[in-house]
Amino acid sequence: MSLLAVRNMTRRFGGLLAVSDVSFSVYKGEIFGLIGPNGAGKTTLFNLITGLTPPSSGDLEYKNRYITRLKPHQIAELGIARTFQNIRLFGNLTALENVLVSQHVHTRSGVLSGVIGTPGARREERQARWQAMELLEMVKLSDRAHVPALSFSYGDQRRLEIARALALQPELLLLDEPSAGMNANEKTTLTGFIREIRDRFGLTVVLIEHHVPMVMNLCDRIAVLNFGQLIALGEPAAVQNDSAVIEAYLGEQ
Ligand SMILES: Nc1ncnc2c1ncn2[C@@H]1O[C@H](COP(=O)(O)OP(=O)(O)OP(=O)(O)O)[C@@H](O)[C@H]1O
Ligand SMILES: [Mg+2]
Repeated sequence: MSLLAVRNMTRRFGGLLAVSDVSFSVYKGEIFGLIGPNGAGKTTLFNLITGLTPPSSGDLEYKNRYITRLKPHQIAELGIARTFQNIRLFGNLTALENVLVSQHVHTRSGVLSGVIGTPGARREERQARWQAMELLEMVKLSDRAHVPALSFSYGDQRRLEIARALALQPELLLLDEPSAGMNANEKTTLTGFIREIRDRFGLTVVLIEHHVPMVMNLCDRIAVLNFGQLIALGEPAAVQNDSAVIEAYLGEQ
């Protein structure tokens, strides 16, 4: 079943076609890879899907509902969460606080009862903290829950960003180069972790990634962008041997 359909998505920046007439579907439960050389339009496509950038033309359908031109918070409320290529954490807040801020979308008590401290709000607060700690445990950061995010290594910050995205309880998780800045060990662990969260939460994942072994090993299907255009789409083995893909990557070097 198609969870997300991208239809004829196009985004121009002045004379540049950053994303050009791109169409594909992401099926429920799959790990879908999005690859391509630098400047191919991958991040722009994420920005289009999450409402940060309005399309020049084209449509987005999520769970059989048109979401084109919805605002980023509306897209998030529908269950689409993401991480950023340029990490966006609150550096002065602790790891736990970073997750709690994101989770707030899902707590029911209003701001006022939170301030007054009604029993319902306190219960929700306790539960939110417990869930946030569980997410930090999953990304192996629970021992540093009370440490400010800015003191974390690059790799740890990336894992914290994933925990924060998961706190939104998404159905669709978009990861923009999650392994950037990680060492080989961390990359291997991350691969297992992405598979684990997909299985545990029944997630659908779209993964932008330059690390080819990770993409090949992890993804059910892969889409390849080059100069804004979709040049290949299919299972890893087929994409890896596609002549247009090989040419795009050789041309990059
Ligand atoms: N806000 C913007 N204004 C103008 N041009 C932009 C803007 N955002 C992206 N671009 C351009 O659009 C093209 C696609 O950029 P994008 O960041 O989507 O590529 P990418 O595939 O994510 O690359 P990378 O692998 O380097 O992250 C690039 O040429 C980029 O310079
Ligand atoms: Mg990018």
